[in-house]
This record gives sequence, structure tokens and C-alpha cells, in this order.
Amino acid sequence: MCGIVGYIGSQQAPAILMDGLKRLEYRGYDSAGIAVHDGAKLCSLKSKGKLVNLAGKLENTPLTGCLGIGHTRWATHGAPSDINSHPHLSSDNLIAVVHNGIIENYMEIKKELTAKGYKFISETDTETVAHLIDYYYTSGFDFREAVFKTLERIEGAYALGIICKDYPDMLIAARKNAPLIVGLGEGENYIASDIPAILNRTRKVYFLNDNEIAFVKADSVEIYNRNHEKVHHDVYEVKWDIKAAEKDGYEHFMIKEINEQPKIIRDLIEHRMPENGNRIDMDGIKLKKDDIDYISRIYIVACGTAYHAGLVGKNIIEKITRIPVIADVASEFRYKDPILDEKTLLIVVSQSGETADTLEALRIAKKNKARVLAVVNAVGSSIAREADDVFYIHAGPEISVASTKAFSAQVIAMELIACHMAMEIGRMSAEEFKAIKEEFYSIPSKVSAILQKSITEKELAKKYVQSKNVFFIGRGLDYIISKEGSLKLKEIAYLHSEAYAAGELKHGPIAMIEESSLVIAVMTQERLYEKTLSNIKEVKARGAKVIAITLNDNKLIGDEVDDVIYIPHSSWMLAPLLAVIPAQLFAYYVAYLLGTDIDQPRNLAKSVTVE
Ligand code: AGP
Repeated sequence: MCGIVGYIGSQQAPAILMDGLKRLEYRGYDSAGIAVHDGAKLCSLKSKGKLVNLAGKLENTPLTGCLGIGHTRWATHGAPSDINSHPHLSSDNLIAVVHNGIIENYMEIKKELTAKGYKFISETDTETVAHLIDYYYTSGFDFREAVFKTLERIEGAYALGIICKDYPDMLIAARKNAPLIVGLGEGENYIASDIPAILNRTRKVYFLNDNEIAFVKADSVEIYNRNHEKVHHDVYEVKWDIKAAEKDGYEHFMIKEINEQPKIIRDLIEHRMPENGNRIDMDGIKLKKDDIDYISRIYIVACGTAYHAGLVGKNIIEKITRIPVIADVASEFRYKDPILDEKTLLIVVSQSGETADTLEALRIAKKNKARVLAVVNAVGSSIAREADDVFYIHAGPEISVASTKAFSAQVIAMELIACHMAMEIGRMSAEEFKAIKEEFYSIPSKVSAILQKSITEKELAKKYVQSKNVFFIGRGLDYIISKEGSLKLKEIAYLHSEAYAAGELKHGPIAMIEESSLVIAVMTQERLYEKTLSNIKEVKARGAKVIAITLNDNKLIGDEVDDVIYIPHSSWMLAPLLAVIPAQLFAYYVAYLLGTDIDQPRNLAKSVTVE
């Protein structure tokens, strides 16, 4: 989604803003712009399309100044265009605003301001904010008060960066339901919607909370709540290296992140299952036997790929603890009037920790006194801060819009939570734990082995790149990996793809199978081999080409399919971690051959902070 960066200091702002925006490109955007205070007035440049367009404009019309705000826009209100791009300026050029989120009552405010003579030139909700601040400011409030007054009026979600012509020494930032940080430098400070935007300049940040306003000067930062009370924030020192947010020689972030998986999985396992320990280290998460006995229902709620990881969790928790679990996508859960009380445990899963629907699901649960455990990657994110307990997956920054390494780490997290619960309630013995721990420890090298043979997926991508329809099928955990593989293919290769529970095919979808269809059958659950095999035969009989992803000792698959991707043998529980790798690689290589924008696929955003 949209990205924000702001700078105040003694260096030239335009270059810093452009560099920050470049580092936010991964979030997904369709236009960009910057506004700079040149010492006397506010100047802005905006452009539809990629940053290179804006850079071209900047080259023709250089801007100078040591205070500025920049934005990459992912269109919600109004099509991508120069006019709709941020920053939005008040008509008298007094105020400039960049905004992430949606102002829900903008129509009403727009009407009022129009009646007062304000002229609107864009279709955006954001322009209202610029005019409203201008209205209060020109009515006699100072800049700070005008912003306070505006925040009292606007409803919805926002991260705002604001500058004023009459205040060349002040950058204002405000947030509600959209992430925003303040970066601390020496004699200079920053604001940003995301750490990578400024990580090459500072590691020290404040995470703003909802309803807070930061008054940022070159040598000071003051943060206030809505009651005009000053609030204190501890400085958070970002631990991860800037290298983690760079391609490091890889052509795309996605392939880099796919290749990071063995290390991430190893680190997570070693951290949570210390080699000489006999339990899972839950880092103080309250999930002891008494807590589990108290729980009457568990929900797992998330979106997209994180939801798929949640589904793996549901299956495994139910299977090894025999506690029923309901898994739901957050956008549905929040409007279902779910049954929630203090005996409910809600597990939310989110890479970014900022997904609007997941965050709202968490808030609804908390309002109803449920306990919330968050499985999150982004440290300090809204979901992490609002949950009762956090299980950090420590996958490092995931830049590619298509989630890969976070998925694997989320699956590990769900598996570890399941094993921990099973042990606590006496459904997993010490011997069983020892055996499964050995299995876990073998996973990183098995993932490496699959990655080393990625030539197979590359070749298969070449062979099947022209497929018009791709069907993923599987049963049990294989069905979930089918869903994830299909999502990857859709989002980065823009290929029509569907995932079906293999047994459901003959209840309808098989009607779509024809000569040109490609079916990818995921087969890692040995007890279900024969069942899936009969479904393979059904589609083969109707002319489909079939690729199987299966364990290397599957003797049944033989000549039944056109191609096989073998993965190392693994227990049923951990097989999803292996089966997903070929699916990720296949999607990557197909997208590569089709020449799509792999890291920033069209219409998508990394962190979906609107409903
Ligand atoms: C995954 O490839 C997608 N880009 C998307 O489905 C993503 O997983 C979803 O939006 C949830 O994001 P989150 O994990 O940051 O909450």
C-alpha cells in the first residue's frame, strides 16, 4: 500500500525523499510525489506510474530545501494520476499533506469546505485534510493546533505527514490505524511508514501509537496524545541489517527470500527448540496447561498467505491436541459476529502486523475479552503491540509482495504452538517430542536440498508456461499447500489458477479440465496417496497434464503423471514446509518467463492497511 517518508535537517530533502520512496517501492504503488519547503514556499512534484517518472520530472525541475515529505500512492479514491498523487496542497499553497489510509467522512467535510469556497482538484479523500488544516490555520489557530483540530474532525485510518509554508522548521506526523515511525538522526529527523525507508540513515526509531501526533524538528521530537498531553516513547533500536532489505546479488527479492528459508527455519527452530532442551521455549507466552484447560474455543484468523499458514496450524492443533479450532479469513471473521468471550483464544497470523482486517479481528476479540496470541514478523507493528502475547517469527524484512519466507516461518510457529499445547495437556510424550524435534532439525537441510535442485522447477516452468488454467489439488495439509501454490501463481504470474481439495474435483470443477489444463498434485500425506492418485487418474483421463510434488520414496506415482518434483521424505506434519518450496519456485520461474513485475505485482500491495 501507500508509503510515506519525510525529512527535516540540514541536507537536501529531495534526494533523501526519493531514496526513501525507492526503498518503499516494494509496498506496491501506482504514483508518487514529493513536496519540499524551499525556505520561502512549498514546491511539489507528482507523477503517475513508477518513481522513475517522478525522478525524470525532478531532473527537469530540481527542487531544493531541507524539509520535505514524499509519498508512493496505491489508489483507493480516484484513479492513479498526477492530480490524485500525493502530496496534496491547500489551494493557497500553505499546507502540504501525505496520507496513508482512508478518511471515511471526507465527503461530508468536502461539502462543508466547498460551501466555504474551497476548491478541490483531485478525487481523493486526502485533499480534504490539506484544506481542513488550512481552514483552521487561516481561521487563527497555529499550525500545531490546526492539526489537532483537524484530527478531531476526520474519521477513518491515517498516517499523515504534514508541512506548512510558515513553519520551515517543523514536520508533523500523526497516526491512527496506519503505521508511522519517527527516525532519529543527529541534527536531522525522519518520518516513515516503514523501517526500510530510512534504515540506511538511522536505526533509532519511535513507533507512534494510534492517536498520537509528533512534532518533529531537526533537533527535537515531541509526541503528544489527543488530550494534548506529552507522551514518552522509548527509542527502539532496529536490529536487522540494511542488507536484509537489499537484493544482495539476487535478481528479485522473491528469489532471495525463497533462498533465505533454510536459515530462517534453522534459526527459529534453534531458538524455540534449544538443542539440549526438552520443551518448546514459548518466551513467556501464557499457554500453560491451566490456560489451555480454561480455553473453550480457538480461532485462527488471518489473510492471504498468512491465512494458509493459519490453516496448517488449525489442522495440526486439532490433530495432535484434539482441541477444535475454527480458522477464518479476517475480512469475514470481523463481520460474522463471532462467538467470543474470556474463554476464547484468538490466534492472529500476520507478516506485516499491520493488515487492517486482521488488526480489526484482534480488536473485536479484545473488546469481547478474548485472549489474543499474535504470530507476527514485524517487530513493533500494531498487531504485535495490541496482542496479549506475541510469537515473533523473526524472518527479517520481507520485501517481495509475494510472501514466501514469512509463510515458512509462520508454519513453523503454528507447528511449535501445536506441539507445545499437546505436551502441556499430556497428548505428546517426551519420547514423541524427542522424535519430532529431530524431524524439525532435519528440515533446513531438506529445504536446502530442494533449493539446490531448483533447475527442475525452472525446466517445468519452461514446459508449462503457456498453460491457461492451472489447477492445484491435494488432500489434508496438501490441500492447504495447493491453495498457497495457487495463490503464488496468481499473484506474481497473473495466471488463472485454482486450488481444490482433490476429492471435490468431481463435484464440479472437473468440468473445466481439458487438454490444455495443467494440474499440479501435491502428495505428501502418505495415508492419502491412493486417494489423491485416483483423482490424478480422473484428470489424466480427461487430457490434463499433471505435475506431482511428492516425497522421494513414493512408489505409487511412477508413470501416472507427466512430471514429478520429488522432495525429501518427511513426517506428515512437517511436509508442508518442503512441499511449498517447489510451488514457490515454479510460480517464480513462470512469472520470470512471462516477464511480470515479480516483486511488485500489479494491483497488489505488501501491507494491506485498508479494508
Ligand atoms: C501473500 O503472498 C500476499 N501478498 C498476501 O496474501 C498476504 O499474505 C496477506 O495480505 C496478509 O498479509 P500479512 O501477513 O502482512 O497480514
